[in-house]
Amino acid sequence: MLWPAIVLFIAVILIYKRRFRLNKEPPLDKGYIPWLGHALEFGRDAAKFLNRMKKKHGDIFTVRVAGLYVTVLLDPNAYDALLSDTKALDFKRYAQVLMRRMFSLNLPNHDPASERSWMKQHFQGPGLVQLCESMQNNLQLLLNSTDVAQNPLQWRQDGLFSFCYSLLFRAGYLTLFEVDKNDITQLSTVYEEFRKFDGLLAKLARSTAKKGERRVASGAQERLWELLSACWLGERAGAQGNTWQQSYLQHLQSERVEEESQRRAMLLQLWVTQGNAGPAAFWLLGFLLTHPEAMLAVRAEIRSLQLQRHPLASLQNCTPVLDSVLSETLRLRAAALITREVIQDKLLPMSGGREYMLRHGDRVCLFPFLSPQMDPQIHSEPEEFKYNRFLNADGTERTDFFKGGVRMKYYNMPWGVGGNMCVGRHFAVSGIKQFVFMVLTCLDLELCDQRSTMPPVNPSRYGFGMLQPIGDLEIRYRLKPASCSL
Ligand code: HEM
Repeated sequence: MLWPAIVLFIAVILIYKRRFRLNKEPPLDKGYIPWLGHALEFGRDAAKFLNRMKKKHGDIFTVRVAGLYVTVLLDPNAYDALLSDTKALDFKRYAQVLMRRMFSLNLPNHDPASERSWMKQHFQGPGLVQLCESMQNNLQLLLNSTDVAQNPLQWRQDGLFSFCYSLLFRAGYLTLFEVDKNDITQLSTVYEEFRKFDGLLAKLARSTAKKGERRVASGAQERLWELLSACWLGERAGAQGNTWQQSYLQHLQSERVEEESQRRAMLLQLWVTQGNAGPAAFWLLGFLLTHPEAMLAVRAEIRSLQLQRHPLASLQNCTPVLDSVLSETLRLRAAALITREVIQDKLLPMSGGREYMLRHGDRVCLFPFLSPQMDPQIHSEPEEFKYNRFLNADGTERTDFFKGGVRMKYYNMPWGVGGNMCVGRHFAVSGIKQFVFMVLTCLDLELCDQRSTMPPVNPSRYGFGMLQPIGDLEIRYRLKPASCSL
């Protein structure tokens, strides 16, 4: 007697809770699998799935993903209207969910606005200039300490991804964190543990990591918490360091965050500050190595910089070709999902004039990678790398892109949009350009096999900032015969 009653009860709940599309709501696509909906396809390759949905439903639709309803907006001209409404949309709750899943971190009193204004002190204005100088010195220090510098004539072989990620990660880590510069072993350990952790982040965020993977991730987490806090909790406790990390620690203490959470928050910051620049530099150099005409144009620009009195100052402002290559690289490989929770019903105007209702309790996502970045109506042959896409014929930066005759305010959005736009973007751009400049001026660098092509993208990383490759691009390099100094 009990079973039929249970089945009936579940059936009544399911019917009662069934979701229907209401008047003015976006097209609803629940998928065929009860509760899960489209979760598997979304997690496997979000770009492919959302592109399929865009073709089926247009620029706005709601999908069911693991019990949640997610409205996806792909009309860049409606992004402002959405994100400017901080009453109906909440950034904090979903950020808290991710912090718990990815970093085992609970910051109940976390105030994103106060953290953002604290971050700005460092990543804008005079603070930024200081950090960029320090980054420059650290890149040079690391290059000089490698065995390339010890045996200048000898070619080294490596994967381009690990070459770029490890150098930029370690230089960024030395720049921002409290660390003994002579302790090369600690630097390498932090990098290796971070890569283990980074490799599993997407699965942790989606709660799909298997038992063994969860064990590896939490082992790496523990080790990183320990390594990142050793400097300020252990031997140097009480020292008044003036690094960015020390300042962050003081910020957390001013917010009365307990000590264990302070330790854990350091790993979150390590990921935020070091997780994207290395992969971006990899794609940029990879595109240059596989597109000789782009490499020639960048090398010509760098040669003209070297003739100037202050090449590094010019590197920040006078490199339209390198800037275009970087923008094109980010257009093709920066793929963050911008997610908010709908905390009040909201009527959203689209650029064509139609309005859609977003339902309280749902999530809403923007995926700028699909639109504007890969939108064929905005960028011709969007899959192709065109180094001069963001250049005018006279060599200045191109900023006029159109869709259906309307000039686009947003035609490339690697840094996000609105109030939560990446605070570290100027630091990231500067570090990537310094790195590329250093590699191209100090090293002979070539593909091991001239016929190599770019490795494919790992599709499970759509939604997590810079994409990463499956496999690598084999390169060889050695110090240039003429001495190099930046
Ligand atoms: C190529 C490199 C990078 C890319 C593509 C990138 C991209 C992004 C994106 C898309 C967001 C917005 C996420 C959202 O709205 O949900 C973001 C936020 C942020 N980024 Fe970056 N980022 C990069 C490098 C960096 C670096 C080097 C730093 C710091 C040194 C940094 C610090 C931050 C911070 C603190 C936020 C949070 C801003 C807030 O919530 O107010 N990023 N980044």
